[in-house]
Amino acid sequence: MLNPETLSQLQNILGAQGLLTDPASLETYGCDWTKTYEPAPSAIAFPKTTAQVQALIQVANQAQFNIVPSGGRTGLSGGAVAAQGELVVSLERMNKILEFNTQDRSVTCEAGVITAQIQQFAAEHDLFYPVDFASAGSSQIGGNIATNAGGIKVIRYGLTRQQVLGLEVVTGKGEILKLNNGLVKNATGYDLRHLFIGSEGTLGIITQATLQLIRPPQNLTVLVLGVPEFGALMQVLMRFQADLDLSAFEFFSDRALHYLVQDKGLAKPFDTPAPYYALLEFENDSAGREQAALQAFQDCLEQGRVLDGVMSRSQTQAKALWRLREMISETISVYTPYKNDLSVRVSQVAAFLQAVDQIVAERYRAFEVIWYGHIGDGNLHLNILKPATMEKAEFFEHCAAVNEQVFALTQSLGGSISAEHGVGLLKRDYLSYSRSPEEITYMRAIKALFDPNQILNPGKLLS
Ligand code: MLT
Ligand code: ZN
Repeated sequence: MLNPETLSQLQNILGAQGLLTDPASLETYGCDWTKTYEPAPSAIAFPKTTAQVQALIQVANQAQFNIVPSGGRTGLSGGAVAAQGELVVSLERMNKILEFNTQDRSVTCEAGVITAQIQQFAAEHDLFYPVDFASAGSSQIGGNIATNAGGIKVIRYGLTRQQVLGLEVVTGKGEILKLNNGLVKNATGYDLRHLFIGSEGTLGIITQATLQLIRPPQNLTVLVLGVPEFGALMQVLMRFQADLDLSAFEFFSDRALHYLVQDKGLAKPFDTPAPYYALLEFENDSAGREQAALQAFQDCLEQGRVLDGVMSRSQTQAKALWRLREMISETISVYTPYKNDLSVRVSQVAAFLQAVDQIVAERYRAFEVIWYGHIGDGNLHLNILKPATMEKAEFFEHCAAVNEQVFALTQSLGGSISAEHGVGLLKRDYLSYSRSPEEITYMRAIKALFDPNQILNPGKLLS
């Protein structure tokens, strides 16, 4: 907990409106979308400059208290949870777009800028920021970088890491580093920028970023296909990829669709029932591309890999089809899902899905399971819904027991127990399923180098 003397020191750094300690703010800023942990921070700091962030970190080192860096708090692994009397440092008032360079096609912004704002800014300059996901309206650029956010376009454009040309960070030691200066090429040794990307606020606080913008895709067209079995999904992917560069290949199960229709009133894509659905997106910028998509669809239909399908004919229709995938997370959140975020290499997805299905059939017989994910890049979101009559604690305990089996399978295929949601608190104790003891030792050494007093997000990622 912060003593009155430290609180007044913080107040002096931040000014009258820059520090909040009222119960409602502590509750709001102390948690993320995980909702499994009770928030209990001591205070919330709202710095407006990098110098203020640096001053906060210096005081934390002197007075020995811990800091939780905080973005849009849309994370799903407890990475932004403050449950131990920490000071939350929210970047939300560092929300300015600082510089746009037409020739470099890059934008430099403060860490608290909302993802959708960068997307909008890019569009206004006839460019495109390709990182996208359902929480783009609330998540912040700094948080995206700290978690190396993925989302729905990774298959074509990569993760957040691919867009970051430069960073400004304040390390846990309180030093300001400017990393990579917006360069495309820079072969001068260790690229520290990449250490901070995905470090979940454990090495430093990201204060500014320079992002690469790209040519906007033309006439994005969406197909939703009904697929009869897991085995067919990846064959459909291969058939379409033979002739098209897909910008998305997502899937979801009929139970996911059931809740979208029942709870959100969304329309089914077509009447033919199907156990699984694939959502594909491609740039329909020439007659040849549409023809290739229709031919691939026809081939899949004839081979029994697809049962039915629909293709968007306008941007409004494309958006409506996307809602079938993007609304799933929010729709099922009221049923207290236990969320898995697993990945394997694309070539292993078919075998992985079958094997996970077997575990689910044995161990989750009495539970409802919702499947979806970005399987075009090997990422499966397996969500187990809590039975209404079961206590939350009992439910999570059961799921944690099944984890051992699911994670052991993932490990046996060289996969990851957290593809894109991060490790945070939720996956921390399972890190060894995806990282070797030697790797974890190096990770601890890196943490000690940048944050020797362990003041930044302690307990997250590493125990
Ligand atoms: C998604 O793909 O919808 C997001 O990662 C959120 C989730 O997994 O629920
Ligand atoms: Zn996802």
